[in-house]
Amino acid sequence: MIELSSISKRYATPQGTVTALEGIDLSIREGEIFGVIGKSGAGKSTLIRLINLLERPDQGSVRVAGRDLTALPPASLRRARQEIGMIFQHFNLLATRTVFENIALPLELRGESKAAIRAAVEPLLELVGLTDKRERYPSELSGGQKQRVGIARALATQPRVLLSDEATSALDPETTRSILALLKDINARLGLTIVLITHEMSVIKEVADRVAVLEHGKVIELGPVYDVFTRPRAEITRRFVGELVGGDLPPSLLRQIANDTATDPARRRVLRILFTGGAAESPVMSTLARRFDLDFNLLHGRLDEIQGRAFGNLVVELLGDPARLDAAVKYLATQQLGVESLNHEQESGDVVRLDRAAG
Ligand SMILES: Nc1ncnc2c1ncn2[C@@H]1O[C@H](COP(=O)(O)OP(=O)(O)OP(=O)(O)O)[C@@H](O)[C@H]1O
Ligand SMILES: [Mg+2]
Repeated sequence: MIELSSISKRYATPQGTVTALEGIDLSIREGEIFGVIGKSGAGKSTLIRLINLLERPDQGSVRVAGRDLTALPPASLRRARQEIGMIFQHFNLLATRTVFENIALPLELRGESKAAIRAAVEPLLELVGLTDKRERYPSELSGGQKQRVGIARALATQPRVLLSDEATSALDPETTRSILALLKDINARLGLTIVLITHEMSVIKEVADRVAVLEHGKVIELGPVYDVFTRPRAEITRRFVGELVGGDLPPSLLRQIANDTATDPARRRVLRILFTGGAAESPVMSTLARRFDLDFNLLHGRLDEIQGRAFGNLVVELLGDPARLDAAVKYLATQQLGVESLNHEQESGDVVRLDRAAG
């Protein structure tokens, strides 16, 4: 649906040339929700603005729905752009227009009749849940409602692609979830291809099918969200994922593990278990306790779900007979789990390091 080939983009500034994007090749499929994540300055906005040619690449081509936008004359480009809607972090609504009039704007610009505009706007008001706010002005709306207006306006020309530049970054977590749910609903109902950029992994987790990680203007990681989350390769991806599942353990916990001298070290294992789509968490833990006759304490953990599959990590303390402990660790390693020993690093050759276990 969207093909970016060998794209690069530089800006000339008084301080010199800034390379915003370099060597970008991306293929976004029809009907998918494609997420792009990166830190500030990574090139996300530049990338998304290339898709509707709000920015022109210095090099490379942009194809949307089979057409090379970089090769189109202005009139054809204007028409092609009607197939690409866009929503923004700060909504970009017109303050002097009502909700209805804001949504109607792209249709007015296109010269549609009053009747045609009404026929198009009414269902959009309904779709975004703002029928009762039609005569309100943006200043009378909450952030979430403003973004709903932005979404309805973006859909007014019946685009096939929706671009979202940090559309939820100015919203609280609950409103963010409701806007993301709306985008998902639109994606499913209208078959719209959605490209969304964000600096929050939770947004990617919530809605995206695939994700690209952008750093210094390059795509450094790309794949289905579940795969990227459970097998992050690049350091920055690990950090993004860590924000979500607590990659770093609390220092007080690490101190507690290191300083525990009451238990015979041979009868105690502290393990971090990383769930990466193999086994579900509860059967594994109860099997461990039962089959190997061990006691276990849950010390720390964060579990989440992506597309219905468990994802996250648990830190558990296993107590019992040393041979049984070894057997339990071996068992875990057969369950497609990442297992890391937090108190037995050297002596246990059977413990798989997280990064390798994930591969
Ligand atoms: N119009 C411009 N003129 C000069 N430099 C620019 C321009 N637009 C972007 N840049 C530079 O290009 C790089 C990428 O910017 P971009 O806005 O795409 O990043 P971003 O990932 O969207 O960041 P943020 O998360 O802060 O929005 C940055 O170094 C930025 O300073
Ligand atoms: Mg940006």
